[in-house]
Amino acid sequence: MKIVERSSVGSVMVLSILLVCFAFGFSLVPRVAAQGEYVGVKKCRVCHMPQANAWEKTKMSKVFELLKPGVAAEVKKAHKIDPEKDYTKDSSCLQCHTTGYGKGGFKDIESTPDLAGVTCEACHGPGGGYLKDDLMSLKNKEFKRADVQAAGLVIPDAKTCANCHNEKSPFVEKGAPFDFEKRKAQGTHEHFALKYKH
Ligand code: HEC
Ligand code: HEC
Ligand code: HEC
Ligand code: HEC
Repeated sequence: MKIVERSSVGSVMVLSILLVCFAFGFSLVPRVAAQGEYVGVKKCRVCHMPQANAWEKTKMSKVFELLKPGVAAEVKKAHKIDPEKDYTKDSSCLQCHTTGYGKGGFKDIESTPDLAGVTCEACHGPGGGYLKDDLMSLKNKEFKRADVQAAGLVIPDAKTCANCHNEKSPFVEKGAPFDFEKRKAQGTHEHFALKYKH
């Protein structure tokens, strides 16, 4: 009798611990996802046409193409990368040739085509956090920069670029310095003066 009682008390306790764990787990997961959700270029384009059009012409918008077999074959050969191999599913390339890979962004070209390449959010951070009515929106054009930054907007500096422009890339010359101002002018998008105070 006693043994049965004890074990049923035990299983009730185990059950409630499990329930608490589940409730806690579930309440944590969506909050983290909402903070860091990647929304894709189409969302940014609606309000930032000039930047989006200029970005589209840069090489960085097309870097996913470089992972396909046969593309940039000569350069690949020169760097001992097999030009016939398909690297579009290779995690050692995707971290720098897509947006948010391994961080809730790009998964594969079939399910997340809008996040292939170095898109807006690779430099400016995932929009899900700061694209809110009371943050970056047409209702709040004079948002405070500090508020959107706290919600995940990145004002890119040399460190942002160094996430990819570093020697882990087979194509980055060892020891070559990265001139931020020069590269910013070449590789991001055209820059336009902001209209509002932030
Ligand atoms: C609903 C409209 C809207 C959308 C969508 C939007 N933005 Fe903005 N964004 C604005 C407005 C308004 C400003 C302020 C413009 C100004 O001052 O001229 C701004 C400013 C910015 C700035 C400059 C901030 C600063 O303080 O220097 C960056 C960077 C930016 N947006 C990036 C993005 C990115 C990346 C996306 C997509 C993930 C995006 N925006 C989507 C409305 C939007
Ligand atoms: C650490 C980030 C990083 C990783 C990892 C990475 N790349 Fe890149 N890749 C870059 C950067 C940055 C450049 C541009 C270098 C420059 O122009 O200074 C680049 C350039 C290239 C180029 C163009 C080279 C040229 O001169 O035209 C090809 C092709 C390429 N990468 C393929 C790959 C492949 C295939 C892999 C995986 C085996 C890979 N990359 C892994 C960051 C990376
Ligand atoms: C997510 C990874 C990633 C980030 C972040 C990144 N880059 Fe790149 N960048 C690349 C890759 C990959 C290439 C190779 C493009 C090619 O050779 O076709 C490249 C190429 C370039 C080029 C050569 C483009 C051209 O048209 O010749 C410039 C310039 C550049 N990046 C500047 C920057 C600057 C400035 C920053 C930071 C504000 C930055 N990049 C951030 C991955 C990245
Ligand atoms: C390779 C990195 C990179 C990418 C990709 C990128 N940006 Fe930027 N963006 C920058 C840098 C660097 C600045 C200038 C920051 C500063 O003020 O010094 C900037 C500034 C801005 C600004 C402020 C106004 C201006 O024109 O300078 C807006 C708005 C903006 N970006 C939107 C976008 C949108 C929308 C996209 C995608 C279509 C995008 N950016 C893609 C690096 C990038």
